[in-house]
Amino acid sequence: MEGCPPEAQNGNAVVSISVECLSKPDPGFAAFTYPRLAKLVAEPRPSMLAIGAFDGDSPAGLALGDCGPGDGRLLSLMVDRRCRGMGIATQLMRAFASAAGERGIRRIETHYPDHLASRPALEAALSNAGWSEPNLGNVQIVGLAGAMSDVGGRWPGVRRLLERPEPYAFTPWSERTARDEAAVERCLGEGSDIRPPDPLTWRTSFDLDLSFVLRRGGDLVGWLIGQRAETGFGPETTSDEAVSVHYPAAYCAEAHSRSGILIAGYHQAFSRQAELYGPRSRASYRTHPGARAMLALTMRRFAPLALRVDRVFTSRLHLAGAD
Ligand SMILES: CC(C)(COP(=O)(O)OP(=O)(O)OC[C@H]1O[C@@H](n2cnc3c(N)ncnc32)[C@H](O)[C@@H]1OP(=O)(O)O)[C@@H](O)C(=O)NCCC(=O)NCCS
Repeated sequence: MEGCPPEAQNGNAVVSISVECLSKPDPGFAAFTYPRLAKLVAEPRPSMLAIGAFDGDSPAGLALGDCGPGDGRLLSLMVDRRCRGMGIATQLMRAFASAAGERGIRRIETHYPDHLASRPALEAALSNAGWSEPNLGNVQIVGLAGAMSDVGGRWPGVRRLLERPEPYAFTPWSERTARDEAAVERCLGEGSDIRPPDPLTWRTSFDLDLSFVLRRGGDLVGWLIGQRAETGFGPETTSDEAVSVHYPAAYCAEAHSRSGILIAGYHQAFSRQAELYGPRSRASYRTHPGARAMLALTMRRFAPLALRVDRVFTSRLHLAGAD
């Protein structure tokens, strides 16, 4: 692994492992996370939580996460190859949970794709640290914005909705009103099996050109939020050659769930993305397995042209004092 301590290349014995919260930037740990997250280690945001493992003075592992607002997220976990199987990931996870709890976080979650080579070790470390049994959180599609937009254009139902959208409309998220905010709150309280994704979770990283309010007769009935993927989480979706946009939150109120409005919203976003960042920019979104109709549409219409289809697993940890 790039960035391994010299001892690793020499095959020397591990000295002694200590685990601590990194209170200031430490670029030495940048190789212990995904390249797209490395800058968060060198120039951390206040919400970032980084727990480092040291072998003597050398970096040996890192748990990197985000502590709010809202729930905490474990973004990556990595241990130097030379030091694996020694319980370091488990120690990092325990220290991460305890530091998150000190920051007032009540629940942490993590998402990872099914094809991860270290999945058995990751799942064992999560389980050791008291995290929930992982379940299939969603299916993630990554494709080219141009191709994803063409799907909607060829799809008769969506085309009809785009040609004659009334009474539906898509307006920029940045123009939402206090009345819209109240409607978002009502939607978040809707009693369905699937918790609507709270758009405010991503407020620090919205791409305002690609985030929309979905309306019917002027009223907010849903939302579609886009973010530049380097600030995102989950499986790698970024490319050095092209802009990547992830759509982490898309929702429409239950009463409109079969109207096609959400699909038309995605079409609107993919088309706008292709205009702004080019047809070869990457677009990714996730669909929850409980949203059966959306999942079926995703697999039938988008999966055949996707660059990648990932089954993403989710595990959670409720911290002491949580409901
Ligand atoms: C996942 C990873 C962080 C685990 O680190 P680690 O320090 O080796 O983990 P631990 O030593 O704490 O071991 C955790 C558990 O995994 C088990 N384990 C370790 N390697 C294993 C393997 N190859 N297969 C199955 N189980 C394994 C250990 O036995 C232990 O379980 P136990 O306590 O019940 O015996 C490490 O493999 C890694 O850095 N992988 C590459 C990065 C990655 O993919 N991270 C996850 C996504 S961000």
